[in-house]
Amino acid sequence: MNEVLKMENLGKLFQTGDWKKEKHVPAIDFRNPIKKDEPVNVNVGVGKEIAHPNTTEHHIEWIEVYFLPEGEKFLYAIGKFEFSAHGASIDGPNKSSIYSQPEVICTLKTAKSGTLLAASYCNIHGLWTSSEGLKIEG
Ligand code: FE2
Repeated sequence: MNEVLKMENLGKLFQTGDWKKEKHVPAIDFRNPIKKDEPVNVNVGVGKEIAHPNTTEHHIEWIEVYFLPEGEKFLYAIGKFEFSAHGASIDGPNKSSIYSQPEVICTLKTAKSGTLLAASYCNIHGLWTSSEGLKIEG
């Protein structure tokens, strides 16, 4: 029997919440406000308040960072970051001491205020997102 599957909207599958209470939500930290065209370091991490598991079986696989300038329709991808070490070794799962930490720093500059958005992916609990406003001084 061949059933037609219902189409899903990717946007509806992103989960969010308060990063201080929900360990999957990416926390976005940066200096704010900034000067026009001045590079700003943006730190994005998962599990900053409540640690997310980091094992071979359960971990954060990637974080992506975007910027949506105020008044614009389309966002800009700032960076994609994959985390590849999750404790696996030739001896088996969780047998190495090497674990990528789900935290990154990327740098951007902008002449416009806007919104920084981050997305993260847990291999078990799916997609998560958060956003923060970035202001240009003056
Ligand atoms: Fe998870």
